[in-house]
Amino acid sequence: MAACWIRAGMLPTNYYGYANGRSTPAFKFSFYLRHGTEPAITNTTDKGYTLRSDLSPDMAKNDSTRGSDSEPGPSSATVDFIADSASNPLALEIDWSTTDNDSAYGDEVSTYTCSITSSVMDFPEIEGRRYHAYRQGRYALPNDEEENERLDIHHALIYTAMGGRLFYAPIGQSPQRVLDIATGTGIWAMDFADEFPSAQVLGNDLSPTQPTLVPPNLEFIVDDVEDEWGYEHQPFDFIHARFLAGAIRDWPKLMRQALECTKPGGWVEFQDWDTFLYSADNSMPPDSAINRFHQMSGGAREAMGYSMCPGRHLQRWMTDAGFINISCTKILLPLGPWAKNRQAKKIGAYNLLQMQQGLEGILLGTLPHAKPRPWSNDEIMVFLADIRKDFQNPKIHGQYDFYVVYGQRPMA
Ligand SMILES: C[S@@+](CC[C@H](N)C(=O)[O-])C[C@H]1O[C@@H](n2cnc3c(N)ncnc32)[C@H](O)[C@@H]1O
Repeated sequence: MAACWIRAGMLPTNYYGYANGRSTPAFKFSFYLRHGTEPAITNTTDKGYTLRSDLSPDMAKNDSTRGSDSEPGPSSATVDFIADSASNPLALEIDWSTTDNDSAYGDEVSTYTCSITSSVMDFPEIEGRRYHAYRQGRYALPNDEEENERLDIHHALIYTAMGGRLFYAPIGQSPQRVLDIATGTGIWAMDFADEFPSAQVLGNDLSPTQPTLVPPNLEFIVDDVEDEWGYEHQPFDFIHARFLAGAIRDWPKLMRQALECTKPGGWVEFQDWDTFLYSADNSMPPDSAINRFHQMSGGAREAMGYSMCPGRHLQRWMTDAGFINISCTKILLPLGPWAKNRQAKKIGAYNLLQMQQGLEGILLGTLPHAKPRPWSNDEIMVFLADIRKDFQNPKIHGQYDFYVVYGQRPMA
């Protein structure tokens, strides 16, 4: 697996004020290619260097896009960093034209930085919304300012709903290595890194949209968590994942990888939704726009192979993967401030805010793929207005189920 490591850059981005200053960071970063036990392979395309995490070394050697050995050029990178047998020791040939030079690395490094940068930051735009560039199309929702604001409101929602706690797992006072998978804006990882200075925290995501001014014990990388992870040799004390409903195709594999990349005795915690809205008092008419929205939008994504209700399955998936001492907590999240309890009212208000903020992105990310007929943009905009009306209707008492599930890797 290859991944692009993003290091804190120069921009004074505010990482606390909810979404304040979170505009697309014009990253000026150093990068690293990371991989597990295999070398990372990059391949030149007309857009510059593209991460090629899907090639094994053997495949890379046969990869026709690299050109033949007698045909040097941008598409025929040397492979002297790939050992093909134990008797062929790894050796990197030196480029004397670069190293016989008194000045420090300059333009040649920034050339690579820029080309890698463009491959993960060349964000496509559709209907005025911006989407991730790395592994384009894998995730349905935008990565723009509007969506990032929603994720920060969502953070406040879940933090409040969990009683002011970032996690429930009994990880002790001094975790060392911590991973936040699919970190989004990185807000959970930043709060965690602040609370646990002992920890070295890593957050990964398809999008490099996290702020650049972050605690010194935190790093972000661009990565696809559905790829092979390759952290088995540097396992974590704690792995956290939140709000991946609609993002993951193979949950059992994700769980197995999390187990394998956790230290014996370490903990993994998943916090996730069942994103289908229901009303316990039958106050949500089946033909209401708000109900049709959940059925159609969630249904479209499910038809593409992504579970919209991972919450209810987390415990079983963790058990099947081999975790022990599993704990499962279910939390009810009202949509709107209709509940009597003061705390539930606040949670309902946060939930409504994040749904209002996310609605357009969710519809645009799902309904154009609906079957049997994709929706047009005009139809989506009309539907959007109808759903917004239902959002404001205090007579509809919608709620979601949210689950916090943690488990431990056995000692042996
Ligand atoms: C709903 S957001 C949740 C973000 C964050 N975990 C939080 O709770 O604030 C889902 C995130 O998953 C990321 N994502 C989706 N599929 C992914 C994948 N295959 N690999 C890495 N990140 C992914 C998206 O880019 C997005 O940032």
